[in-house]
Amino acid sequence: MAYRITLLPGDGIGPEVTRATVAVLEATGLEWEWVEHPDLGASALEKFGSPLPESILDSIRETKVALKAPVTTPVGEGFKSVNVGLRQKLDLYVNVRPCKSLPGIPSPFKDVDLIIFRENTEGLYSGMETYDERHDIADSIARISRAGSERIIRFCFEYAQMHHRNPVTVVHKANILKLTSGMFLNIAREFSDKFPDVEFNDRIIDNMCMQLVIRPQEYNCIVTTNLFGDILSDLAAGLVGGLGVVAGANIGNDYAVFEAVHGSAPDIAGKNLANPTALIRSGEMMLRHLGENIVADAVASALEEIYTEGRHLTADLGGSTGTIEFANKLAERVANYVS
Ligand code: NAI
Ligand code: MG
Repeated sequence: MAYRITLLPGDGIGPEVTRATVAVLEATGLEWEWVEHPDLGASALEKFGSPLPESILDSIRETKVALKAPVTTPVGEGFKSVNVGLRQKLDLYVNVRPCKSLPGIPSPFKDVDLIIFRENTEGLYSGMETYDERHDIADSIARISRAGSERIIRFCFEYAQMHHRNPVTVVHKANILKLTSGMFLNIAREFSDKFPDVEFNDRIIDNMCMQLVIRPQEYNCIVTTNLFGDILSDLAAGLVGGLGVVAGANIGNDYAVFEAVHGSAPDIAGKNLANPTALIRSGEMMLRHLGENIVADAVASALEEIYTEGRHLTADLGGSTGTIEFANKLAERVANYVS
């Protein structure tokens, strides 16, 4: 039976990395039925009057799983982020972002293997913003709830326990944000008592940024609120070769949307320059979510092989291989692994 997946190619480099990822997933020998929605964000607003049309949400509700490429959000004006909207409307409360060193990538950091669990529905991204025109004052509300914190912290501890990954580090700013960050930290402490076999520590966000660029190998599972997780995951991407190689997954109780950490990269869009590894690795996470662990291992092994050889690197990593050529090379290896 074919896996029915909602496919959102997005914009910018989105369609290119989507085509590349689909080529690799097709090479696994599994059958796929892609329910494709080409318009999301600006083009959907133009065509359907909404940047995040209800038909896309309905499609994900039906297929339960989506593979999504980046979508441009206007900066400082215009429509609200469809990424934030999608995560909130489908209640995809965990954003899982693994950052693992690949062989052959030039980086001052070796053996980084950490996962950021970013809270995905509240915090400073809760969308509650007001503007007082008379006094020219703007407010953004950072809402943290006990229920919202418990579910992501539980997810992180359960993951660490199941995969024998230590320690869990909660990242916060509870010294200043005593109510919001303080509550998140306290709930994490409560969970550490419930999971005595999982090592636990906490770090204040600013210190954490320094720690990660000095000794990233000391960290393993990092759980944090929305804004800190957003920033830390780009920082962590920089430790392992940049945004071109870092995958992500938005997970809720009912649905899952797999997407790279990076954005639509307008500076390189349409030039066959983007590195599709990030979305391909998100595809690998999707395979594991579907229970296809052996096939996912084949994709991971083929990627390691290509990077170890270092002959087919994209421009972001100093090579000259195009997006689709990289994907085709990888697809050949994947087909060999699964045959
Ligand atoms: P970006 O991640 O698009 O790009 C940052 C830098 O990394 C750029 O120099 C870009 O060329 C490079 N880069 C990113 N992905 C790459 C890849 N796969 N291969 C090679 N190089 C890559 O971040 P930026 O420029 O801050 O945002 C651009 C747009 O993307 C904005 O509208 C933003 O809102 C949106 N965005 C969308 C996301 C999503 O749909 N999930 C996530 C992050 C940003
Ligand atoms: Mg981000």
